[in-house]
Amino acid sequence: MSATMLDGRELAAALRATLTAEAARIAHERGRRAHLTLIASGDDPTATLYAAQVAQSCERIGLGCALRRYPADIAETVLRTELAVLGARGDVDGVVLLLPLPGHIRQRVVTEVLAPEKDVDGLGPRNAGRLMLGFPSYVPSTADAALELLHAAQIPIQGQNVVIIGRSNVGGKPAGLLFLRENATVTFCHSRTIDLASVTRQADILFTSVGRPAYVTADMVKPGAVVLDAGMNAVDGRMVGDVAEDGVREVAGALTPVPGGLGPLTRLMLIRHTLVGPR
Ligand SMILES: NC(=O)c1ccc[n+]([C@@H]2O[C@H](COP(=O)([O-])OP(=O)(O)OC[C@H]3O[C@@H](n4cnc5c(N)ncnc54)[C@H](OP(=O)(O)O)[C@@H]3O)[C@@H](O)[C@H]2O)c1
Repeated sequence: MSATMLDGRELAAALRATLTAEAARIAHERGRRAHLTLIASGDDPTATLYAAQVAQSCERIGLGCALRRYPADIAETVLRTELAVLGARGDVDGVVLLLPLPGHIRQRVVTEVLAPEKDVDGLGPRNAGRLMLGFPSYVPSTADAALELLHAAQIPIQGQNVVIIGRSNVGGKPAGLLFLRENATVTFCHSRTIDLASVTRQADILFTSVGRPAYVTADMVKPGAVVLDAGMNAVDGRMVGDVAEDGVREVAGALTPVPGGLGPLTRLMLIRHTLVGPR
């Protein structure tokens, strides 16, 4: 068997046209372009690449985008104030704190001051809480991209066994909650899971957000399963996912490639949140 590759680029191109029309409508209505501000602390290469890709997508679609870059030793209080101030500005529609944060910065402490209606990547407690309760909320863009891709490919979710590897607040956890919202049976795995492969082999849909190249191997995948790879790992100057693609594509029924799978859609989800609001 050779897996169908789930092409995020194709879907992104179609979505881009819709979002471009929406951005133009908003610009006309408000007399200014919608605006997204990205905040980077430190110079993590994956975050730097992601910021450049988001800025390019904003430019193409017709949003303003600013990147505010701070040194890795920025004080937590300064970053916190920055988020509060940006969230209160009338000319800023969305604010995204790029991850990973430097070790001394607590994500909880800085994101709790961001206005929930500007927290378009759903990192703050208000949006995360609403997602947990099943209420409309901004959700982290990668999780949203995974569901978007499945819907477009008409892959059923309801009643399916979904196994999530990784429980970060930006990756695995929101993805699992979105699948639960769509009536999947969800299992979360993490670094303390015992006999991970025996759990992942139960998955009809396997979502991974671990951050380790080639971590998910063919023996961990049920034949015919759908494998969604959210990993973005810089290796020798190129981007690879968490999945050992060569082996897994022989077992899986469908697979998101890296690059070209969830990545292109993730940035469009961020832009859609900024233009359209919570889902
Ligand atoms: N930062 C973003 O905005 C973003 C968004 C989507 C995807 N990504 C990409 O996705 C990957 C993960 O990112 P993240 O932010 O979710 O990472 P993270 O915060 O480092 O979390 C990694 C998760 O993987 C689990 N894990 C680590 N080693 C494991 C193992 N051997 N077996 C099973 N689980 C293990 C960890 O378990 P414990 O909780 O037990 O430690 C943790 O829950 C990266 O490649 C990243 O670039 C990033």
